[in-house]
Amino acid sequence: MIAVLASGAGSNLESLLLNNIPIDLVASDKPNCNALKIASNHGVSNIIACKKLKRLEQMLSKNEYSLIILAGFMRVLSPWFVKKYKIINIHPSLLPEFKGLHAIEQALEAKVSQTGVTIHYVDEGVDTGEIIYQHSCPIEATDTVSTLKQKIQTLEHKIYPEIIYRCLK
Ligand code: GAR
Repeated sequence: MIAVLASGAGSNLESLLLNNIPIDLVASDKPNCNALKIASNHGVSNIIACKKLKRLEQMLSKNEYSLIILAGFMRVLSPWFVKKYKIINIHPSLLPEFKGLHAIEQALEAKVSQTGVTIHYVDEGVDTGEIIYQHSCPIEATDTVSTLKQKIQTLEHKIYPEIIYRCLK
């Protein structure tokens, strides 16, 4: 069984669904988020939403999963939950640079010439787990948060399904 956890717009979830990743369950800590609407529109049969993280983790832990995929899930999972499952995350920077929230804004503020995308295993820390794959993305002088986000997300939508297929083999 494969589960996806998302909190936001759900563009990465949608790219996984469009690339035929066999997703059995989608869960969120934000009951009204667009990601859940995307899951429902694509016919995902198991959808769970709960604002309370501990409760959400308890509900999820009734099942076994071959993989749990974080796709814009903005909460830090409990240590017991992280130990129990194989979990991967996608983050919009070249970790260990620009961990946590607003990674795209952090890269622009730091005036670095490149940033990128990291796919990594989830451990007990925030964006500290073992790195599976990274891809860089140049930052142009004219880039804004919006243009850079668009470039990074285009990259995410291409590489996340590819790497997940590799993890499932
Ligand atoms: C993605 O860009 C993802 O990398 C980022 O949230 C966005 C979610 O977009 N994740 C993090 O920052 C995790 N620390 P989406 O809801 O459209 O997929």
